[in-house]
Amino acid sequence: MRIIITGGAGCLGSNLIEHYVPAGHEVLAIDNFATGKREVLPQVSGLTVIEGSIADNNLITQCFDDFEPTHVIHSAAAYKDPADWHEDTATNIIGTINVAQAAARHGVARFVNFQTALCYGIPRQVPIPVTHPTEPFTSYGISKTAGERYLMASSLPIVSLRLANITGPRLAIGPIPTFYKRLKAGQNCFCSDTVRDFLDIADFLSVMDIVMDDGAPDGVYNVSTGDGRSIKDVFDVVTAHLGIELTKPVPIVPPGEDDVPSVVLDPKETQRALRWEARFDFVDTIRRQLIWYDKHGVSDIHSHLSKPQA
Ligand SMILES: NC(=O)c1ccc[n+]([C@@H]2O[C@H](COP(=O)([O-])OP(=O)(O)OC[C@H]3O[C@@H](n4cnc5c(N)ncnc54)[C@H](O)[C@@H]3O)[C@@H](O)[C@H]2O)c1
Repeated sequence: MRIIITGGAGCLGSNLIEHYVPAGHEVLAIDNFATGKREVLPQVSGLTVIEGSIADNNLITQCFDDFEPTHVIHSAAAYKDPADWHEDTATNIIGTINVAQAAARHGVARFVNFQTALCYGIPRQVPIPVTHPTEPFTSYGISKTAGERYLMASSLPIVSLRLANITGPRLAIGPIPTFYKRLKAGQNCFCSDTVRDFLDIADFLSVMDIVMDDGAPDGVYNVSTGDGRSIKDVFDVVTAHLGIELTKPVPIVPPGEDDVPSVVLDPKETQRALRWEARFDFVDTIRRQLIWYDKHGVSDIHSHLSKPQA
């Protein structure tokens, strides 16, 4: 395959590059390094890195004309400043349209998009079925939902994966890196009173291998274990891993205004349609992430919430 990966320097993008380049596929990564880092991308044959924004339509046209991709993985997203609606719109809507139209002109065999579970807003039922209405209320959720709608309205061979919290190398968002970093530094923590589902990177890569095949059915899929766990459950695995005995209980605080109390995606329809199922359970998933931090450390932590939450 000749794969364009937007947001290739990000957490998922860089893991996909490490998955596909050694397997002999040619990859062109486009990234503006807003939250990704150039240094995570290896200088190896089979990988070309272009610095720039997907909001720049001339750049996107040039990249597609020069590289002639057969497949596109659209992983670029803006979220780091919840008040910066212009940037979220430029990347998540205009940028998505630029990439989609270039991909359509080049007749790619597959376009894979990644969607946030925040597209569902405050869910009316948990676990959230893929048929649940989309009711986003944050800039990130609203712009990503508009981007996904443009993609679904296109003639592209599109798969949009609505993702649980994916763990894996370089994870720099959410409670796992936050607790690990703070506890190692002897700092206090709190847990927001929320429930999430976590998916191991190996399970994410296995669903990617299925949907990158042109034979897989187009559509929108929840990608998750369906196993909702509290942030306190995550905290307990981190403290046990670090061998920390607390002298007083960790405070549990209500979710912030732009946070969602419970986000657990129902993967049943995905399991049926794609014949895919997550293999790693909750504790193994979190532990594998912590072992990675033991070896490599935690970088700067990003958040799409207005105040960093644990
Ligand atoms: N990781 C998860 O658990 C998760 C969950 C739900 C959805 N997603 C979606 O998966 C995708 C990847 O997420 P991630 O966790 O790897 O995040 P990330 O921040 O690590 O990666 C996003 C990448 O996009 C780049 N980027 C931002 N704006 C850009 C622009 N205008 N032009 C080019 N590049 C730009 C960033 O620099 C970064 O490298 C996103 O679309 C996100 O919405 C991820």
